[in-house]
Amino acid sequence: MTGFLDLPPMLRAHGVIRLPGSKSISNRCLLLAALAQGETQIHDLLASDDVDRMLDALTALGVTWRREDESGRFVVHGVGGCFPVKKADLFLGNAGTAFRPLTAALALSAGEYRLSGVPRMHERPIGDLVDGLLQIGADVRYEGRAGFPPLHVLPARIEGRRPIRVRGDVSSQFLTALLMALPLTGEEATIEVVGELISKPYVAITLNLMARFGVSVRQEGWRRFVIPSASRYRSPGALHVEGDASSASYFLAAGAIGGGPVRVEGVGAHSIQGDIRFAESLRELGARICMGENWVEASAPETGKLRAFDLDLNAIPDAAMTLAVAALFADGPCRLRNIASWRVKETDRIAAMATELRKVGAEVEEGEDSLAVTPPAVFRPAAIDTYDDHRIAMCFSLVSLGCRVRINDPACVNKTFPGYFDSLGKIVEPVPVIAIDGPSASGKGTVAALVARALGYHYLDSGALYRVLALAAMRAGIALEDEAGLAQLAESLPVRFDEGRIWLDGDEVTDAIREEICSTGASRVAAVPVVRAALLERQRDFRRRPGLVAEGRDMGSVVFPDAQCKIFLTASAEIRAQRRAKQLIDKGIAANMRDLLRDLMDRDARDAARPVAPLKKLDDAHLLDTTGFGVEEAVAFVLDEVRSSLNAPR
Ligand code: C5P
Repeated sequence: MTGFLDLPPMLRAHGVIRLPGSKSISNRCLLLAALAQGETQIHDLLASDDVDRMLDALTALGVTWRREDESGRFVVHGVGGCFPVKKADLFLGNAGTAFRPLTAALALSAGEYRLSGVPRMHERPIGDLVDGLLQIGADVRYEGRAGFPPLHVLPARIEGRRPIRVRGDVSSQFLTALLMALPLTGEEATIEVVGELISKPYVAITLNLMARFGVSVRQEGWRRFVIPSASRYRSPGALHVEGDASSASYFLAAGAIGGGPVRVEGVGAHSIQGDIRFAESLRELGARICMGENWVEASAPETGKLRAFDLDLNAIPDAAMTLAVAALFADGPCRLRNIASWRVKETDRIAAMATELRKVGAEVEEGEDSLAVTPPAVFRPAAIDTYDDHRIAMCFSLVSLGCRVRINDPACVNKTFPGYFDSLGKIVEPVPVIAIDGPSASGKGTVAALVARALGYHYLDSGALYRVLALAAMRAGIALEDEAGLAQLAESLPVRFDEGRIWLDGDEVTDAIREEICSTGASRVAAVPVVRAALLERQRDFRRRPGLVAEGRDMGSVVFPDAQCKIFLTASAEIRAQRRAKQLIDKGIAANMRDLLRDLMDRDARDAARPVAPLKKLDDAHLLDTTGFGVEEAVAFVLDEVRSSLNAPR
């Protein structure tokens, strides 16, 4: 696992995304171009791990290709038949779209080949494909467990005219692999599908692309396919890869959940990809969908909320994962049916989705080939494990439209969409945070509370958290030197903030925490790094729609480094001392200006010098010196800054 990515809660989604090329089309085009006679120019080929695995394999098999710098166009020199290299060892990662079709093509290439992948690839069944190949005389052996990669392919006499019977109910890629490879025999070939063929639209992509390369398959429904004798692949010259319709699903769902409109460019009404039907499913959930020749657009339902659904998703297994996450936002329990193929994908997706959906608060019932999802009443922030499965990472990023979410190992999206999180960032707008800091008695508390009220935002007085912790520690008899004890207390601190009043374990402490003993206690506990770490998530939970004003030391640097507006309030020490004196006198407490001034200056020095979260204006914070200002002017200044920061282009 390589790290994690924290996504803040999002306010809304809208914008336009240019999609990367389709993985399914890219890898099919590459293989067909390699086997074809002539040179093929491929435009908009997807740049991703799975495509790289195919390109590496083609190189190893003696196919030459190049990527043109200026246009990004790929040029593949077809070998006009079987691969010229007759002995090779291929490592294909976890790329099913490379592994299956290459297995079939190599079995017919009269050479000796080894095909292997990552451990998960070796858990994904391939027996039905191998059985199909054995029926026409191919020599394909299992190097490990029978029915699974790695494979050892040996030269054999192929009898292409024998009909092949292949199961269609585990993976449609077996049929795709046979269809693409069989023209290599030059003989008429017949494939009969046993059992109900799943994921039919993917087979339709295969047939469509084969036709573009000059091989027309005669089709009798989805049961029988005949490849005419003397079929040969010929380059169509140039080809454009459509945008990836499965990748489109995340953005369209973002538009349907987060307001929209979100438009994806690169696929449209006439797409050859089955996953374009995802847009129809979203429409059944109430989303507003528009489609053009080369774009699709999604917006939230008129009512604002997606409708509960019960759908057979056999035709769109990949995009269906996005619906499982969309179910979190629906107005009732949802059911995804006929998705057994999820169990043999990058991971057991039914089990993985159930586990991760539960983490964010959904109730999930896992069936053998179905999933029932009851949306959570309240979203729970969670760390999502991604099982080296790009689609889990991408679809769970949509949870951020409900609450903050951590995506573990986010780089797994490289399998099909290396720039995914950057693209997502372009269409989502995080819940805004205004971070206000400044020295003691600068008026930041008063100003922050008034700004929050003016904007209708939530308000976080982070200093109060440290004060409550100090009070709770003293009440529980935990010494302020006991770092582990303090951290443990901080983790489970039973504090509640409610309309300006503060409660500790059911006891109101609003005034108690302002006493001197809590001020000094707070400043001691706040200097303990494990305490700060323990309070981090709790502070982040204050970021809720429509926005947050967060006041305190590390609001803009550690807790909300992505705050849209950061303010550093200050005033001369003399003015601050005068303000403090007035506060004390108003409360009937005697105040000595000289002592107050000295205390303040000492505290400034200590706060600025402390190693943990020192007092410091951040480079990206707006400075406001309130020495000559009243509270109202300070609030007006901050509101101005907030408005221009929130309107600034993202
Ligand atoms: O702002 P207030 O006076 O209530 O803060 C109490 C104490 O907590 C201070 O010593 C301050 O330095 C510390 N604090 C902190 N980080 C924050 C907020 C307050 O270290 N985010």
